[in-house]
Amino acid sequence: MVCSLVTAAVAAVLSTVAVAAEAATCGPNQKCPESAPCCSAYGQCGVGAYCLGGCDPKYSFSLNSCVPAPVCQSEDYQLNSLDDIAPIDEYLGDASEANWVASGQPVAYNDEAVLLTMAPETVGTLLATTHYVWYGRISATLTTSQGAGVVTAFIMMSDVKDEIDFEFVGVDLEHAQSNFYSQGVTNYNNGANLSVSNTVENVHTYTIDWTPDAITWIIDGDEMRTQKREDTWNSTANRFDFPQTPSRVMLSLWPAGLPSNGEGTIEWGGGLVDWNSEYMQNGYYYAMVNEVKVECYDPPRGANTTGDNSYVYNDYAATNDTVAIVDREVVLASLHATGDDPDIDPDATDDDEPSSTSSSSSQSTSAEVNTVPGVSGAGARSDENSASDDSDSGDSSDSGDSGNSASPSSSSGGSSGFSQGDGSTGGDENAAPGKPERILTGGSAVAIVVALVGLLVL
Ligand SMILES: *[C@@H]1O[C@H](CO)[C@@H](O)[C@H](O)[C@H]1NC(C)=O
Ligand SMILES: *[C@@H]1O[C@H](CO)[C@@H](O)[C@H](O)[C@H]1NC(C)=O
Ligand SMILES: *[C@@H]1O[C@H](CO)[C@@H](O)[C@H](O)[C@H]1NC(C)=O
Ligand SMILES: *[C@@H]1O[C@H](CO)[C@@H](O)[C@H](O)[C@H]1NC(C)=O
Repeated sequence: MVCSLVTAAVAAVLSTVAVAAEAATCGPNQKCPESAPCCSAYGQCGVGAYCLGGCDPKYSFSLNSCVPAPVCQSEDYQLNSLDDIAPIDEYLGDASEANWVASGQPVAYNDEAVLLTMAPETVGTLLATTHYVWYGRISATLTTSQGAGVVTAFIMMSDVKDEIDFEFVGVDLEHAQSNFYSQGVTNYNNGANLSVSNTVENVHTYTIDWTPDAITWIIDGDEMRTQKREDTWNSTANRFDFPQTPSRVMLSLWPAGLPSNGEGTIEWGGGLVDWNSEYMQNGYYYAMVNEVKVECYDPPRGANTTGDNSYVYNDYAATNDTVAIVDREVVLASLHATGDDPDIDPDATDDDEPSSTSSSSSQSTSAEVNTVPGVSGAGARSDENSASDDSDSGDSSDSGDSGNSASPSSSSGGSSGFSQGDGSTGGDENAAPGKPERILTGGSAVAIVVALVGLLVL
């Protein structure tokens, strides 16, 4: 469900900004074509970064299209610089080179923290780990942002959209909202508010303890909520609606309060974002992340283990017992490569002229193919418009139409996603703040979408 909402959202985004010629979409009953085999978290087909974190094996061309997911690595990440954070359009899948991938604008703060920023005309920042976690204890030490419509999130999200959340709305600094989802399916009973003292003024450590049998949400060492797997049986689907697949750690700051978002979303977030707020500094809203600690638990008993480098899926059911741990390790040769064909590198033969003079013959095959989810035709765009290394800032900040596209893109992302969701399951009352779970479902997915779209304007 989230997938289809997000598909619509991104389709709208892409058509608004007109960077993608004709991106194929993917979702239930619609796999990606061989030419653009990887289904992004947003329901669009592409190559390159589409095949990395968030690539959904269920809707990709083959089970090998998505690059295998790097296995869990226990580590204490001191987030005090940007050294360990790769921009999403530069990361090719080598998790030994960067532990984090960013969309949007992370900012180093005083050698002691990383700020997730959200400036006017942007849709915030998303950080995701390059290593996955298949059960473990994950802690984030942070202060949230504040203000109407401003949402801070610390979540676990798998490529098939199993999800475990801590979310913080900027008008309620006394609660963390806990939630979980199974394969992106909306469930209205999964959310719960957890009491906490002022999340802006006080640094707290939020912990997700995730085992095959239970999830426990913990704040500053106090267990606040436990969800057992055995209480999540879904007799329709004939399985447990319990997060059970390898997941990335994600931290994000995003605007729920954009005028074009669904009314319920805006209400949930506490109203429209004030872009001249006293809560902004240096021109942006920010959440401050000091540390993320990942303690990996052993793979579940009975896991199909033939190696120790990566997680892959053996079956489209994408349940726990279709995950295998293998030796296969894939680093893409370029943003035109895929899990099926990792060595593609159109620039390999003419790398002395990587900029606007790139041969149109090599582009003719790749120009139609999207390479960075949320930014889309970036491969073609960066190759044609500027040298790939500086394409981001140069490309998007200098052109007026990036600025213009910002509001329509983020807003169409929000509004198509949310309004479809609100409409399809029973009308307006479901969009009311009394039903935060559905909004949160859209919210988390859109948090990622909008953060990616934010690249367009940064
Ligand atoms: C959590 O608190 C918010 C207010 O901040 C409220 O709107 C929402 O209904 C609460 N959610 C649950 C599950 O109680
Ligand atoms: C059970 O699973 C089905 C199929 O995925 C889904 O449509 C339904 O919403 C689920 N039920 C609940 C209560 O989540
Ligand atoms: C998968 O989950 C089922 C419960 O649904 C459990 O019995 C089984 O042991 C699990 N297998 C693995 C490999 O985790
Ligand atoms: C275990 O995983 C390997 C590698 O993906 C796969 O080839 C094999 O079929 C799997 N075995 C079972 C019993 O699922």
